[in-house]
Amino acid sequence: MKNFINLIVAAMLSTALLIVSAKADERELIEMPDDVRVKFLTQMRGMLESVDGMLLALSEGDYDQVSKIADIELGFKHRKWQKMIDDGSSEDEVQAKINAMREELAKPKKGYKKKKNSKSMSRFMPANARAMGRQMHLAASKLSVAAQNTEENPDTAKFQELLAGVQEITAVCTACHSVYKVR
Ligand code: HEC
Repeated sequence: MKNFINLIVAAMLSTALLIVSAKADERELIEMPDDVRVKFLTQMRGMLESVDGMLLALSEGDYDQVSKIADIELGFKHRKWQKMIDDGSSEDEVQAKINAMREELAKPKKGYKKKKNSKSMSRFMPANARAMGRQMHLAASKLSVAAQNTEENPDTAKFQELLAGVQEITAVCTACHSVYKVR
């Protein structure tokens, strides 16, 4: 009887081990100093707030706000735009600069280039993670343009286009989260 119980316990243990190893976290570790990681995760939580804000604005039919959040919080050079606003630039001034940047980016062979030896946390990022970051900025920029081109009371197709635009952004969030972790 005792042997039988031992056998059952052993079987249960090995099943538990199997389940644990099936769920093992095999994501690639991005190493960064503690203070950078805190900043990184704070920014991440800010990005979730941005997505939340865009969904709220969509639900309220405020497409201008969708565009602003996409550009100023999730788009290319978003820190620069945020700083301009903090330093007192008007929203129109900032939007004009963003539109000019978009035109530059749309020109062939003039893609967005990350500065080398940047002091920002991106220097801790593997190239693939940086590429996903760019992908997210690109999706945000596309959504911003779509939101700017949305009239009041859009039809279902237009609204679906905007929702799909938000999902294009969250698809990048989840893709990166499934590949990387920080500790
Ligand atoms: C370039 C890769 C990348 C992209 C793109 C990305 N994240 Fe993250 N995010 C991470 C990593 C890595 C972590 C840490 C995960 C871990 O260690 O388990 C993280 C963590 C988070 C966290 C947890 C923060 C905390 O305090 O623990 C939130 C929330 C988050 N991300 C939201 C988002 C949202 C929303 C988006 C898209 C708008 C996004 N992330 C896009 C890489 C990314």
